[in-house]
Amino acid sequence: MLHFLASIASSLSTLPVTGISVPLAYRKKQLKQLYNLVTENEALLFAALRKDLRKHEVESIGGEIAPVAEECLWFLENLDELAKDEKVSPRVILNRLGGSALIRKEPLGVVLIIVGAIAAGNTAIIKPSEVSAHTAAAITALLPNYLDPRCYRTVNGAVTETTRLLELHFNHIFYTGSPEIGKVVMSAAAKHLTSVTLELGGKSPAIVSSDVDMQVVANRIAFGKFYNAGQVCIAPDYVLIERKQLPEFVKAFKTTMQNFYRGHPETDEGYARIVSERHWDRLHNILANKTSGHVVIGGESNKSDLYIAPTVVADVDNDDPSLMGDELFGPILPVVCVDNLDEAIDIVNSRAPPLVLYLFSKSRKTAEKVLTKTQSGGVLVNDTLMHQAEYALPFGGTGRSGQGSYHGKKSFEAFTHERSVMIKKLGMDGLLASRYPPYSAKKAGLIRSVTMSSPMGIWIRNHSKTLKVIALMLVLFILNRRR
Ligand SMILES: *[C@@H]1O[C@H](CO)[C@@H](O)[C@H](O)[C@H]1NC(C)=O
Ligand SMILES: *[C@@H]1O[C@H](CO)[C@@H](O)[C@H](O)[C@H]1NC(C)=O
Ligand SMILES: *[C@@H]1O[C@H](CO)[C@@H](O)[C@H](O)[C@H]1NC(C)=O
Ligand SMILES: *[C@@H]1O[C@H](CO)[C@@H](O)[C@H](O)[C@H]1NC(C)=O
Repeated sequence: MLHFLASIASSLSTLPVTGISVPLAYRKKQLKQLYNLVTENEALLFAALRKDLRKHEVESIGGEIAPVAEECLWFLENLDELAKDEKVSPRVILNRLGGSALIRKEPLGVVLIIVGAIAAGNTAIIKPSEVSAHTAAAITALLPNYLDPRCYRTVNGAVTETTRLLELHFNHIFYTGSPEIGKVVMSAAAKHLTSVTLELGGKSPAIVSSDVDMQVVANRIAFGKFYNAGQVCIAPDYVLIERKQLPEFVKAFKTTMQNFYRGHPETDEGYARIVSERHWDRLHNILANKTSGHVVIGGESNKSDLYIAPTVVADVDNDDPSLMGDELFGPILPVVCVDNLDEAIDIVNSRAPPLVLYLFSKSRKTAEKVLTKTQSGGVLVNDTLMHQAEYALPFGGTGRSGQGSYHGKKSFEAFTHERSVMIKKLGMDGLLASRYPPYSAKKAGLIRSVTMSSPMGIWIRNHSKTLKVIALMLVLFILNRRR
């Protein structure tokens, strides 16, 4: 296995230099092929996702097909602009004299993972999650039919294979998953001083403030929480709500459940299953071991079907180790009651910054307060999940919820080395000679004046328009007086 991987990595590693994956036409062709891969094989991918998660087509379109297809199209539209050299004007006077400066957008090399990687001109190894076996098999079978196998390969396997894979020297690793595995990835990367993008999740709260239309809030939180049975890194993890609103929230949520699954999520086509027995056990134990709250919706489960009902647990203590410990990553929604917004903010801040913070409120002032007093990878006010579909915004965590961001322009940047290039002229050496030894007090003064801007100079430059107007008025005034 290791030998096989090492040969892939070494065969790929020279490629960015020899440049197969670098020309824009090549990148565009591969992006078109990736687009074709997902759009031409929708049915096959739907079937794989159904086998892995009993995921409904509607959720697979929104969660898997559309994001890849859209990102391909976005890059095809924007790649020329993103990839071209960025001219900058030198600030230092000595460099402004007949010199130019630019930033070249170069691929990082061999990276572990995809779309942005192709657009930025890298070669890539794709390691699908071993937990979704059918989806991994579909990707592995389809990829070589569409993408150039010289530059893009899939590698499958579980912990042993992944550990071996991580021992190889990549130029960048892009990982989505848990903070625990994130640490493993980052320490493996550290051995080669490889850069990482980590998208790790965490306990993303949904704060419900007192001024909202509760039915809409319940619909939107349920949508975000039970999409793919809660197995989404940006699912709202728990709800923070004022105590007096709890009955209204629970009532509205029951109505939502009735509307979403006609009262029978266990037989409804629209409700997914837990991805593996191990995760089913984990979620089952979380409910069994809870030390606070009471189940007001759901609670049922069926191991032979990997089913866990959409479950709401009301009146949960913030320090319940089972429900409020790690990210739940499943269809269990603890509701923690607070006295006021400040207490909700304190609870959010008692944990590491989450990947996303959801807030439901009509008040701009409340939104501003929550934004100012908390930290998170992203914020979505009055809805769930939809910010991830927005390619105009960077998507990523901070601290324990991850580092680096992606989507659109940021995906390109994540896989790009911005190489600084300055090109000067060989002439005018006399003018530049003051920087050469032998040194003197006069040279020190000269060097000071050309390498250090004076605050006054900056002020004058900044107000040059106003100063020109004043100068013009002065001239006119003087001319007028002389007449
Ligand atoms: C949770 O419950 C399961 C079985 O009900 C048990 O095996 C496990 O040790 C418990 N975990 C904790 C942290 O109490
Ligand atoms: C559990 O799921 C299995 C497999 O789908 C099914 O045959 C069984 O009837 C379910 N049990 C209950 C109690 O619903
Ligand atoms: C939340 O939605 C309400 C109702 O549509 C809207 O009036 C309000 O401006 C939104 N909240 C914020 C903070 O903008
Ligand atoms: C330059 O001008 C801008 C806009 O008028 C102002 O915000 C900024 O503070 C100024 N900077 C300096 C150094 O004067």
